[in-house]
Amino acid sequence: MKQIWLLGMVLTLALSGVASAADSPTFSDEVVRIVQERCQTCHRPGEHAPFSLITYADVFTRRADIRDQIDWRTMPPWKPVPGFGSFLESRRLSDEERATILKWIDAGAKAGPPIQISTLNPTGVPDIKPRVAVKPQIGAIAYRPDGKLLALGTYKEVRLADPAGKILGALTGHKEQVRAVAFSPDGALLAAAGGQPGRKGEVKIWDVEKRSVIRTIEGHADCIYAVAFSPDGKTLVGAGRTKLRVWDVTTGKTIQASDLKTGFSKKALSALALSPDGRSLAVSGKQDDKHVIALYDVKTAKRTKTLEGHAEFLFPLSFTSDGNTLAGAGLETIYLWDFDQGTKLSKGSVAVSPWQG
Ligand code: HEC
Repeated sequence: MKQIWLLGMVLTLALSGVASAADSPTFSDEVVRIVQERCQTCHRPGEHAPFSLITYADVFTRRADIRDQIDWRTMPPWKPVPGFGSFLESRRLSDEERATILKWIDAGAKAGPPIQISTLNPTGVPDIKPRVAVKPQIGAIAYRPDGKLLALGTYKEVRLADPAGKILGALTGHKEQVRAVAFSPDGALLAAAGGQPGRKGEVKIWDVEKRSVIRTIEGHADCIYAVAFSPDGKTLVGAGRTKLRVWDVTTGKTIQASDLKTGFSKKALSALALSPDGRSLAVSGKQDDKHVIALYDVKTAKRTKTLEGHAEFLFPLSFTSDGNTLAGAGLETIYLWDFDQGTKLSKGSVAVSPWQG
């Protein structure tokens, strides 16, 4: 059936000579399907993304931002975690889908032939089930200091697994995606953080043995993307895109509240990581058209160093447990920096499995 239809289309185009129609996709013939499958699980009323992408108008008005996010591969959100690749990759746009959207926007983001509005405009109808189930994404991962337990931050919960990957249990009750996890130095507590972007941050401190929450801290005005305990386990640092907080673990009181002035535009900040001792914060992003990692002293919230030498957005950033080396991963390359010297150590390729392209 499909083949016959395609053949008919090719013939019509060849006869009428309008080859360009085949070149530029329209919203109704191709783009809407991609948006429904890849974006509407989150970008619809009642979900956690800050705006809906349902109607042609929704998508058209935001086309410039959408182009950036797709070009930078920051939307749909994903973070590669070794060993969990295929699980995470499921939400990524295929190269073909990505090319279609970019081409559509570059060619003027045309609406295309009118289609039944019911498939496109459920706005106002509150209870729309997503067409595609929201797959939990692992947004954060941490080893307990003894190396015997892994905490995986996913949507609304943290899963605990043994080092072989066997799931041992779940810590449920988070409001949103868990974006950062850290064990206390003695391994008894786990801090898991996340929240609603641009609205509210949330950290829960769990008793790992009992699997119960001992404290929930709210109040950050944005999501928390990185957490770390101090070496004595008494304080906890949380970092968002514009805020740094230090809390007392026993009382939950805020000890320090600082603004983080990166100078990056909101859209150009790709990752945050705290050193294991909670003293330094690394933020990667784009500043004045250059990709950089800005290093901050947590106590003063001042920038201490700027690392350069990469030409792409880095998604996960991670310190080694001794805090001496910082690693950042781009799409196919891992970069390492000597933290104290601020020098780039090396650059290596990440193997990409062939079926993931
Ligand atoms: C898993 C949920 C999810 C999916 C799927 C998703 N988004 Fe998002 N999107 C979000 C959230 C949450 C934010 C707010 C992010 C923030 O402020 O950090 C966002 C923000 C955005 C922004 C604004 C970014 C900015 O900082 O200005 C754009 C544009 C966007 N998404 C486009 C898309 C497109 C296009 C798709 C599909 C190809 C998509 N998103 C799929 C959750 C999602």
